[in-house]
Amino acid sequence: PETITVAELANRMAERGADLVKALFKMGMPVTVNQTIDQDTAELLITEFGHNFKRVSESDIDIVASTEDEPEGTLLPRAPVVTIMGHVDHGKTSLLDALRGTDVAAGEAGGITQHIGAYQVTVPSGDKVTFLDTPGHEAFSEMRARGANVTDIVIIVVAADDGIRPQTIEAINHTKAAGVPMIVAINKVDKPGGNAQKVREALLQYDVQVEAMGGEVQDVEVSALKRTGLDELIDKILLQAEILELKANPDREAEGTVVEAQLDKGRGPVATILVRKGTLKVGDIFVVGAESGKVRALIDDKGKQVKTAGPSVPVEVLGLSGVPGAGDTLTVVENEARAREVAEYRAGVIQRKRTTQAPANLESMFSQFR
Ligand code: GTP
Ligand code: MG
Repeated sequence: PETITVAELANRMAERGADLVKALFKMGMPVTVNQTIDQDTAELLITEFGHNFKRVSESDIDIVASTEDEPEGTLLPRAPVVTIMGHVDHGKTSLLDALRGTDVAAGEAGGITQHIGAYQVTVPSGDKVTFLDTPGHEAFSEMRARGANVTDIVIIVVAADDGIRPQTIEAINHTKAAGVPMIVAINKVDKPGGNAQKVREALLQYDVQVEAMGGEVQDVEVSALKRTGLDELIDKILLQAEILELKANPDREAEGTVVEAQLDKGRGPVATILVRKGTLKVGDIFVVGAESGKVRALIDDKGKQVKTAGPSVPVEVLGLSGVPGAGDTLTVVENEARAREVAEYRAGVIQRKRTTQAPANLESMFSQFR
């Protein structure tokens, strides 16, 4: 059976180790924070503390305050998060730019002045869609492996004049493995050499059956250059999003995922966070990966300072102790001491994972208390 130390479990739950020890004592298990408990006991404790859990793998449980965990009536619709993938030069960036060009809010704000790797577009219907600038495929699998599956929908861009290429296949495989619905955007249809039908047929070889071929996968012909097919693409994204019934509770401490992070010369460590649930506010104290901090400023995708960011909103966060990794989770905690404690603990865990084995299984020790 798998085990976890009380301290690590407390850390993952963002609860105090002493409180877990107390609860365990009441359950008839006198253990210290450094001792291990088995998975069943851990799950019992997690439920006891009102958290939810999921098994990431046989040997690891991840504590998640999942949406199912939220009290009735607190869940509100949120914008879909869409990632655009595809082969080199097939027009991912051009398509993203074209879609940004449809942003009705961008005009009002005086144009998009900043690129932060993730942005939210208000489409003509008034709905919002969050686009993630294509992370390298490496980053995508890395984030998926870490359970940070931030994408709701993937758009696979295929150039009509070039067809299915190695990175197209990779993108299809990643998307399938992640269990995320895909929309195929057949791009560059303005080019004389383009053949959209050939692309649809070729996709069959990779088990992608688009609607026109009798399947379920939506496809749309676009030209990022001539800006055609964009409305249809947006409609298909919204239709897919509606099916997914995406919701989140905006009224709780924020939790988000690092999309990208770097050390900025003037501003120090900066992370682009995609808020998953809750609302991130200026002044919030947080832990992100092995780093911690206090939100000094939030900057939206239009380069504007904002006070808050809710679910599916990407923002740049200033005020970090260091540079976190892509895919790391940002969690708002109650105070700075707690933030430092969790961050130091995580840093220690990362160090230990590199150097030593997991703690011994002490299940037999407390099985006598059952
Ligand atoms: P990487 O980021 O390098 O993988 O490329 P990408 O997929 O982002 O492609 P990008 O948008 O940079 O476009 C590659 C080239 O294709 C550029 O020269 C674009 O101008 C051109 N291109 C993109 N979309 C279209 C289109 O719809 N029609 C035509 N004719 N050219 C396009
Ligand atoms: Mg590009």
